[in-house]
Amino acid sequence: MADRSDMLALARTMRTRAYAPYSKYQVAAVVRGANGKLYAGTNVENIAYPVGNCAEASALAAMVADGETRIIEALVIGPEGDLCTPCGACRQRLREFATDDLPVHIADPTGIKKTVTLGELLPLSFGPTILRKT
Ligand code: THU
Repeated sequence: MADRSDMLALARTMRTRAYAPYSKYQVAAVVRGANGKLYAGTNVENIAYPVGNCAEASALAAMVADGETRIIEALVIGPEGDLCTPCGACRQRLREFATDDLPVHIADPTGIKKTVTLGELLPLSFGPTILRKT
């Protein structure tokens, strides 16, 4: 897991495919499933602005469609010079499939700028185990 070059390379390519004609803010997200596979997605905007999707949502949808529901690592990439951290809703989306110790890499096209945990991004989270108590 120490070598993130595979995630970064995929994220860089994927970001060029972002559909962001309104904000012009291209984002990609890559998640590594517990199965070791990488799943990527971009933001997909819509003329009805609130209908747009974040990149994280797209990556997670690809993962679930492939039959995986656990993430062991995530990366979000935005424009050069920006620290494109996941929005609040996407922190919660990641929490559905990961625990507080999930490493989240924040990158721009030049590389990973910062790595934080999901617990740092979303402290005292409302996670899926809350409803799984017997
Ligand atoms: N965006 C993401 O894709 N992920 C985030 O976590 C932050 C924001 C997208 C949504 C919108 O298409 C664009 O960035 C500008 O907000």
